Amino acid sequence: MNPKLYLVTYGCQMNEYDSSKMADVLAKSHGFERTSVPEEADVLLLNTCSVREKAQEKVFSELGRWREWKQARPGRVIGVGGCVASQEGEQIASRAPHVDLVFGPQTLHRLPELLEQNRQTARPAVDISFPEIEKFDRLPEPRAEGPTAFVSIMEGCSKYCTFCIVPYTRGAEVSRPLDDVLVEIAQLADQGVREVTLLGQNVNAYRGRMGDTADVCDLALLIGYVARIPGIERIRFTTSHPAEFTDALVDAFAAEPKLASYLHLPVQSGSNRILGMMKRGYTREQFLAKIERIKQARPGLSLSTDFIVGFPSESDDDFAQTMDLIDRVGFDAAFSFVYSPRPGTPAANLRDNVTTEIKSARLQILQNRIRSFDDAFKQSLVGSVQTVLVERPSRRGRGQMTGKTSSNRSVNFDAPAHLAGQFVDVEVTEMTTNSLRGRIVEQHVVAGAAV
Ligand code: SAM
Ligand code: F3S
Repeated sequence: MNPKLYLVTYGCQMNEYDSSKMADVLAKSHGFERTSVPEEADVLLLNTCSVREKAQEKVFSELGRWREWKQARPGRVIGVGGCVASQEGEQIASRAPHVDLVFGPQTLHRLPELLEQNRQTARPAVDISFPEIEKFDRLPEPRAEGPTAFVSIMEGCSKYCTFCIVPYTRGAEVSRPLDDVLVEIAQLADQGVREVTLLGQNVNAYRGRMGDTADVCDLALLIGYVARIPGIERIRFTTSHPAEFTDALVDAFAAEPKLASYLHLPVQSGSNRILGMMKRGYTREQFLAKIERIKQARPGLSLSTDFIVGFPSESDDDFAQTMDLIDRVGFDAAFSFVYSPRPGTPAANLRDNVTTEIKSARLQILQNRIRSFDDAFKQSLVGSVQTVLVERPSRRGRGQMTGKTSSNRSVNFDAPAHLAGQFVDVEVTEMTTNSLRGRIVEQHVVAGAAV
């Protein structure tokens, strides 16, 4: 019988991508199969996030629970990967002595060796180094899990926003060579993937080597290449940084129909004073001007962002500037967070002087405003016909399938299960709290696709 792997993922889409690679690596090296039942697992892995304090705290409480499983069968292996592992290294194993493996986002491909090392020495095997792009050279062929897939195009971040831990845990920006990215996407397309999300902490900084030449490919050019891969019909990218959102990328929204009508562009704050303290590298005016150009290039685009409320010294006026920016842009989706000081970042030295009550009140006000824009956006789709990529059976069951519009909204509709992986035209009939309902009016056939 094949050994079993239980894998828990916290954090961002990069972590989800990394987790799927951990599973692939161990499937290839030791024949591991994934299980959702921890009691039957031989190896338990926790892929961690340290971007906010809460996420970091969850790691040790989860590991506390895992101790019982280890005690029940001492031969079980427990591993911790991701950003907390990268930051804490050996200390994880001293604080939680039942941990056998500690590895960072850039060393997950070495899991088979770490596993063997731990077996031989019976001591924790730790590797949190940053061996640049070696990770990708050592990963097995990607395995599609449905018609959508994430593809990492770069690793790390070199922007050093003053509040953010990512550059310290994931290392400096390194781009994957263009050919590697295209081969991975072509392999996924052959397995039925129709939509890819190009992933990185700052994808606008993508500079992929082009073959053996000295030329480099930027994100706008990469999107053009990806669009030409047979079977790939929809392209998304995340996360973008506003300061490096080039004119070529704006133009791509006008010129490339396969680029989805959705953009996640984290702004963090609408106050120039706070943006300066965060070292984001743009002003609200520059951000608004960019948004105007993007809206012109792609009318009706859904705009999403990230906000941090309660950054040190954020005043009522600073927050009012953020609310004003939301109204001007009309963000219809957002991830919003209360500021969380991260040890080792420059902002952690500032006095965290906004009270918890004020932070929560601001978060509430902000989220309510975003929700109203989201509702208005969804309402505007009711009565329209949207192209939807059918992904999987809906959680509601009853013969319904679910998929997403180009604008990243979930739609449920009656359809046979074999339509998964196909594009259909859906007339949106109704808006619900988190999604839309509709009915199929037409089915597409994707040229060149192996469906
Ligand atoms: N690369 C992205 C960008 O361009 O902004 C951000 C990546 S970060 C993992 C995701 C989001 O977490 C950030 O956009 C920010 O809103 C939030 N975040 C990061 N550090 C934070 C902190 N110390 N406290 C609260 N939220 C934080
Ligand atoms: Fe973090 Fe800023 Fe990079 S938010 S991931 S340092 S762009």
